[in-house]
Amino acid sequence: MELANKIAVITGGSGGIGAALAVALKQAGARVAISDIDADRVARTAHELDVLGIACDVRREEQIIALIDQVHDQLGQVDIFISNAGVGYCDPSHAASAPNANWQDSFDIHVMSHVYAARKLLPMMIERGHGCLVNTASAAGLLHQIGDAAYSTTKHAAVGLAESLAIAHGDDGITVCVICPQYVATPMLGYETPDDAPDHDGLISPQDVANTVIHGLEQERFLILPHPVVKDYVLNKATDYDRWIKGMRKLRRASLDQVGSTRADKMHLLV
Ligand SMILES: NC(=O)c1ccc[n+]([C@@H]2O[C@H](COP(=O)([O-])OP(=O)(O)OC[C@H]3O[C@@H](n4cnc5c(N)ncnc54)[C@H](O)[C@@H]3O)[C@@H](O)[C@H]2O)c1
Repeated sequence: MELANKIAVITGGSGGIGAALAVALKQAGARVAISDIDADRVARTAHELDVLGIACDVRREEQIIALIDQVHDQLGQVDIFISNAGVGYCDPSHAASAPNANWQDSFDIHVMSHVYAARKLLPMMIERGHGCLVNTASAAGLLHQIGDAAYSTTKHAAVGLAESLAIAHGDDGITVCVICPQYVATPMLGYETPDDAPDHDGLISPQDVANTVIHGLEQERFLILPHPVVKDYVLNKATDYDRWIKGMRKLRRASLDQVGSTRADKMHLLV
């Protein structure tokens, strides 16, 4: 796919991976709009990056519809929509202990927001015979996020939805990509800027993710893996599921022993 002059929208674009994607897409010649839940923050980042900024809570279908309508009015028809907003809560104790509100939020943000964007955009994209839907899932959607059942479950659902979109609409000219990174130095892991992150194999910067995504979009790849090793882990999981579960239990025990927690912001340096 040629990215120059494409109109791209990124949710969760005020910082982290979303803002890096905005910078990379702009450098590739796309016309970019970012959105995020906090109006002041999105306005500030949009000003810094010199892109359009629009507040949108992706849990609300009417706000996603309004976001797409506003981009249409101000930039033109959306070519690329990147559903990138995300949250991580962590299980307070056992694997079903997170409150329903956290499960609902995770499901609404990681799955339903992707449905809302596709529901609004697909009829227009199908009519034009082209368009691109990109979903930021996670390696947790292919493997697992220890200590956050709601995150793991809803990221798996995000991958499943992306598969449905790709299979049902490839013949309509729609490109679907799903981004599945492992750990990235963003505010989600406690790093306000990537410079705050220690040098650690496996912990990559949002810019690294954005570079891989640009390449994946240009190649129209369905599965975009900023950490190539994830492919090996997925193969291991598929080859011997029981062995994989045992390995993950071992990693969980190591995390509790070494950092006293399975919170992603604590344990990511063990991976
Ligand atoms: N950081 C990682 O290690 C990592 C790894 C794999 C996948 N991801 C995924 O990458 C995506 C981006 O995360 P990030 O790492 O840049 O973290 P981040 O916290 O910097 O970005 C997430 C953004 O989503 C926004 N957001 C949250 N709820 C929202 C809502 N209801 N409506 C609109 N925006 C909302 C936040 O305000 C934030 O700007 C997420 O989907 C995350 O799950 C992150």
